[in-house]
Amino acid sequence: MADTDDRNADLRALIRTIPDFPKPGVQFRDITTLLLDSVGFAAAIARMAAGTQGPVDLVAGIEARGFIFAAALAAPLGAGVLLIRKDGKLPGTTIAEDYALEYGTDRIAMHADALVPGQRVLLVDDLIATGGTARAAVRLLRKAGAMVTQAQFLVDLPDLGGADALRADGLAVDSLVA
Ligand code: PRP
Ligand code: ADE
Repeated sequence: MADTDDRNADLRALIRTIPDFPKPGVQFRDITTLLLDSVGFAAAIARMAAGTQGPVDLVAGIEARGFIFAAALAAPLGAGVLLIRKDGKLPGTTIAEDYALEYGTDRIAMHADALVPGQRVLLVDDLIATGGTARAAVRLLRKAGAMVTQAQFLVDLPDLGGADALRADGLAVDSLVA
């Protein structure tokens, strides 16, 4: 769902910007204020669910803020939740991918047996910036045999190009607020 006509102005107003966090020069888009608002959070989940195309088997959420949106979307979509975590947190056998952040580098992992090859997976996170995290998640999910064709974000930072890069990877990408 594009927000060119700012149909999600109510949600935009609930997200605050903290300058210079976690390091100088970063304009941090803080979604905790939206989460605190019962009406805004429910509206965000309903609009993300409405923007999802076709049935999905699993909603994959990226640690940590992505878990909140993935878990809330799972019930309305009739899907399970697959956790993509920072490396070293999952107890079973994992597969992992490295990625670059707007501010640093990291590695994400999922359980190697978390999905049955061919399952339809919707990727969800609170925000896409450079796309490093989401693209690594797509590589990981595809390595496990998932069909990952769409991704939903609350916030897109379009100047950083992540959503376009994800589209080039073959996904339909939706966000509520740019
Ligand atoms: C944030 C955000 C995304 C990622 C986006 O997570 O929740 O996962 O950065 O950045 P990118 O598109 O440039 O990769 P962060 O790693 O800060 O972790 P958190 O959710 O645990 O705060
Ligand atoms: N993750 C990466 N860049 C971010 C930003 N500018 N605000 C919030 N989360 C982020």
